[in-house]
Amino acid sequence: MTAKAIWIDGKLIPWEEAKVHILVHAMHYGSCAFEGIRMYANPKGSFILRFKEHMKRLLDSAKIYRIACPYTLEELMAAVKETLLANELKEAYIRPFIFRGYHSLGLNPFKCPVVTAIAAWEWGTYLGPDALEKGVSVRISSWNRPAPNTMPAMAKVAANYMNSQLVKMEAIQDGFDEGIALDTFGYISEGSGENIFIVKNGVLFTPPSSSCILPGITRHCVFQLARDLGITVKQHVLPRESLYVADEAFMTGTAAEITPITKVDTIMVGEGKRGPITQKIQKAYFGIIRGEQEDKYGWLEKVA
Ligand SMILES: Cc1ncc(COP(=O)(O)O)c(C=O)c1O
Repeated sequence: MTAKAIWIDGKLIPWEEAKVHILVHAMHYGSCAFEGIRMYANPKGSFILRFKEHMKRLLDSAKIYRIACPYTLEELMAAVKETLLANELKEAYIRPFIFRGYHSLGLNPFKCPVVTAIAAWEWGTYLGPDALEKGVSVRISSWNRPAPNTMPAMAKVAANYMNSQLVKMEAIQDGFDEGIALDTFGYISEGSGENIFIVKNGVLFTPPSSSCILPGITRHCVFQLARDLGITVKQHVLPRESLYVADEAFMTGTAAEITPITKVDTIMVGEGKRGPITQKIQKAYFGIIRGEQEDKYGWLEKVA
């Protein structure tokens, strides 16, 4: 993981020199709002996927945690493009973040300066090179997602990801590719960094915001695609066992894209391979990204 330069508060700093003091507030208390965005190359150029939605979510995450970002949405979007061009990237994973910097280490963070930074580098498939076709195995985590009104799930903020790390580490150490956490009521919430969909009798089901999920932007892409493919989508609380008896299941996320789930807790999902509805949605999703289908939802923004 490397590239040429990282944008920090208006300046492009060489990758190796982009450092902060070890006592920055974010390092100790997780006070850092961030985004994960992908830029894809297709024959027409390099395009950022759902750029504005991601940058709006970044500012919303900062707002929820009262981190006052000094930049407007437009300024941040221009800075991301500047970073991509400076790094001469054709495809990239983009990580803009807004964090509380170095001043004092009390829990009152208001005196700490707010630092805004943007990194971008090349990144392949998140769950392994075969995951999109062959699917992944998951376990239901022994860790739950936080209760309502504890950690705000709608905010994509570093502190929330300690929970995700527990879910991920447990899954990996137990020989699974990914973990899925239940909410405090025992219903399916989400993967460590992905939303979950189940297919049952031709209908798509996914947990609602009240199941302690990050309302994913890829999840929203699936809503749009499914509608045009004539597939009904229902946001519904889902019991754990609905995954065991699903016809198909898949995970969505900027990093994971649309990844089939073939096994849950060692139980085979459907026929234990990527199902036809998952494949249809993948085809429509990547068709737009690769420039093979018209970008009818306005998902792609050209970099230059
Ligand atoms: C906890 C969590 N849930 C869901 C998602 C999927 O969100 P998106 O599709 O916007 O990347 C992510 C990834 O950002 C995540 O970290």
